[in-house]
Amino acid sequence: MSLTLAAEHDLTAANTLGLPCVAAHFAAPASLVELQAALSEARVHGWPLTLLGGGSNLILPERLPGLVLQPAMGDWWLEEGEGETVRVHAEAGVVWHELVMALAGLGLWGTENLALIPGRCGAAPIQNIGAYGVELCEVLEALQVVDLADGRAAWMTPEACAFAYRDSVFKGRLAGRVVITRLALRLTRSATLRLGYGDLAARVGETPTPLAVAEAVSAIRRDKLPDPARLGNAGSFFKNPLVKDEQAKRLLAEHPEMPHFRQPDGRVKLAAGWLIDRCGLKGLREGHFGVHDRQALVLVHFGGGSAGELLAFADRVATTVRERFGVTLEREPRLPGER
Ligand code: EPU
Repeated sequence: MSLTLAAEHDLTAANTLGLPCVAAHFAAPASLVELQAALSEARVHGWPLTLLGGGSNLILPERLPGLVLQPAMGDWWLEEGEGETVRVHAEAGVVWHELVMALAGLGLWGTENLALIPGRCGAAPIQNIGAYGVELCEVLEALQVVDLADGRAAWMTPEACAFAYRDSVFKGRLAGRVVITRLALRLTRSATLRLGYGDLAARVGETPTPLAVAEAVSAIRRDKLPDPARLGNAGSFFKNPLVKDEQAKRLLAEHPEMPHFRQPDGRVKLAAGWLIDRCGLKGLREGHFGVHDRQALVLVHFGGGSAGELLAFADRVATTVRERFGVTLEREPRLPGER
């Protein structure tokens, strides 16, 4: 077991936007010991660190100095829990969708609504991945992190992760300080159907199983979202904005058909995709980038573009929405090192 360090490593195929990027140094540690070895290498050379998962929520510059680390520990296993519950351990390098389909195939409930979300397990908690009425934090029991400064491993509770909509402590206080190495998820053998979102119920059929739900969710996502293997993208490029009740009421008076979701804290979540769509931007193409023609929340890369051009294009989209609706859109994929 020895760690391989690559120099001048091309990351173009390692980010779903397909932005050209070269890492000065790159390692894909396949165990905790290899990860710790990579961290000491970086310390010895004074290399800055960048963490990479599946590269599906990241906007890469043309060059990354220092060491890019992509955890590649790829095992997962089950442990019987109390009653109907089953604990699933999944290492950081496990591909999220493959795990979801395997668990659904075993008849285990809990992650089926999160099928076909790109990325790896280690990145899933960072933005608290969510879709079709379920967020990762609802099934997460604990997670293991390694401190980038001293290589020590520790377990964290969900409370310590400060999960919120597309947010966690790993985007704030712990950004650039730890790497997530393992998840412990709680699934169950008894049906816990969550079919309330959109037309999911209609697409699942008469006898719902976890696999039937995962397949229905995958089919809906395939209809709307571009396949990164064919067209570069990072999923939703903006978060759905949360606005004050007064602002939502003003907008609804003018646009009664506007999708809106009241939150427990009194604020109202709007659909960024609807706002962009209503500005007439769906399908717009400018240079190497565009607004996806089936889901306006997704920006797409036709090839040949750079991070700077993408950010400028996104800025034009957000400015148009702000001028038309007075709503500020926040970017969802992050730049390396960004908090
Ligand atoms: N809408 C439009 N035009 C569009 C896009 C959406 O009118 O071009 C309307 C839809 O008709 C619907 C509403 O906006 O009434 C919401 O659309 P949708 O159900 O497609 O979901 P979303 O709010 O656009 C969010 C997540 C997705 C997740 C879906 C399903 C965020 C930022 N995005 O999208 O997550 O799959 O809900 O739960 O919260 C991702 O994070 O990459 C992602 C794809």
